[in-house]
Amino acid sequence: MCADLTILKEVKLKNGQQLILRKPIVEDAAKMIEYLNAIGGESDNLLFGKDEFHLTVEQEAEYIKKLSTDANTFMIIGVINDSIVSVAQITSPNRKRIAHNSELSISVKKEYWRNGIGKAVLEELIRYAKEHSEIRNVSLGVKASNRNAIRLYEKLGFQQIGIHKGYFNVNGELDDEILMDLHL
Ligand SMILES: CC(C)(COP(=O)(O)OP(=O)(O)OC[C@H]1O[C@@H](n2cnc3c(N)ncnc32)[C@H](O)[C@@H]1OP(=O)(O)O)[C@@H](O)C(=O)NCCC(=O)NCCS
Repeated sequence: MCADLTILKEVKLKNGQQLILRKPIVEDAAKMIEYLNAIGGESDNLLFGKDEFHLTVEQEAEYIKKLSTDANTFMIIGVINDSIVSVAQITSPNRKRIAHNSELSISVKKEYWRNGIGKAVLEELIRYAKEHSEIRNVSLGVKASNRNAIRLYEKLGFQQIGIHKGYFNVNGELDDEILMDLHL
């Protein structure tokens, strides 16, 4: 792999494995698509299902390249033994009047759940938000039935602030979206 890897953090997990948190590089594109198509099928809690991620490797590489110069989006990948095990990002709108708000999203590969990866990744994203003093609020939306994620967010200080009734439709089954905020 390319030598120019900016490692943000190394974490020893509960299972003893070493997790590397870093920004994605264009060389990650193929693995990224593979990861996103796999996790879509691992839970019903994301906005996409298995193999619903249709970018080509070139398009994904271009997207990652753009990210490196996009001041409004900060993406982190979690890597164990050269495999992507988590992808998360925080992104803020361009418009000046609402640019102090940001949206957060995260996923972790199922075989690695409950080892502290989600918590480590979110702590890194929150650290980034705090370092960028223009960001005053981190928001997210989560399926009401996704108790694990809600517990994780609450542990990190997020508060439930509202509900979008029947927001998700997974195979005809509707579920509410819980809106959560972390004020910095
Ligand atoms: C939600 C998700 C990101 C959690 O990632 P993770 O790496 O398993 O989380 P962690 O191991 O850091 O867990 C941190 C805390 O969250 C809670 N938690 C996470 N998974 C849990 C589970 N299966 N059961 C109960 N509590 C759970 C616990 O409080 C846990 O702390 P503890 O292990 O010390 O008790 C992961 O399950 C995931 O990717 N799910 C599918 C996609 C998704 O739901 N994304 C969020 C969409 S809003």
